[in-house]
Amino acid sequence: MKIITTIAEMQEQMLRLKADGTTIGYVPTMGFLHEGHMTLMKKARHENDVVVLSIFVNPLQFGPTEDLDAYPRDFERDHKIAEAHGVDFIFYPSPEEMYPGTASITVSVVERTNVLCGKSRPGHFDGVATVLVKLFNIIQANRAYFGLKDAQQVAVVDGLIKDFNFPIQLIPVETIREEDGLAKSSRNVYLNDEERTQAPELHKSLQLAKAEIEKGERDPKQVIELVNTHINNHCNAEVDYIEIYSYPGLKELETLAGKIIIALAVRFSKARLIDNIILDVEKN
Ligand code: PAF
Repeated sequence: MKIITTIAEMQEQMLRLKADGTTIGYVPTMGFLHEGHMTLMKKARHENDVVVLSIFVNPLQFGPTEDLDAYPRDFERDHKIAEAHGVDFIFYPSPEEMYPGTASITVSVVERTNVLCGKSRPGHFDGVATVLVKLFNIIQANRAYFGLKDAQQVAVVDGLIKDFNFPIQLIPVETIREEDGLAKSSRNVYLNDEERTQAPELHKSLQLAKAEIEKGERDPKQVIELVNTHINNHCNAEVDYIEIYSYPGLKELETLAGKIIIALAVRFSKARLIDNIILDVEKN
């Protein structure tokens, strides 16, 4: 496995591989790898000749109240995990390498951003899109792997790839869950014992919504009400949002039809958890 820290070397190696017809699978990360990343690496390893992992804590996607310096970093540990998952290249640039001066152009995301978690993080997805334009041009991947736990990010990347015509296939990867259905997250450790027994009800509420839609419910308000009632009855937590949109367009719907997302964010005492379900809904 090779660790590359400069853009010039990374791009040169990737262009050479691509010219030979080698397929490149790319997993973009900010490091401090967890099981979700491991699933992405495994899938990328399975589907491509070469696997590239990038580790870059992107300052552009942090808001003024979010602490960039406090973001966890452990390159040695990440290195070992990447090695164990058959990664061929780690791209590990410094902030100075990625942003050597004041940018003359940044990307502004105009759709899919002012809903769900994006609503409370203005500018976040502009930062994600800007760094991905750079990373996509540097890494020249055939396929890029993103976890559906952050389904809004997947929707934004889908828009970026289509609108800017990147010759990259976006591979969204299912959220991995504990046996009781709770979406795996590094934040789950902040749940106390009682909250930990309640937290799987979030996934259960989405499954109930799915069953209700399968029975014929097409009114988004009714579905949101059902999810809200289930969470309030089973969790000692505050609902931040429960929203339903088309997917990946993230447009409001009067009636449920086509591909949709039901997404929620809930605050327990020390952890804010998110979860979602994406469904194909037939017209009634
Ligand atoms: O999901 C992340 O870790 C980041 O948003 C990404 C895609 C690596 C861009 O910085």
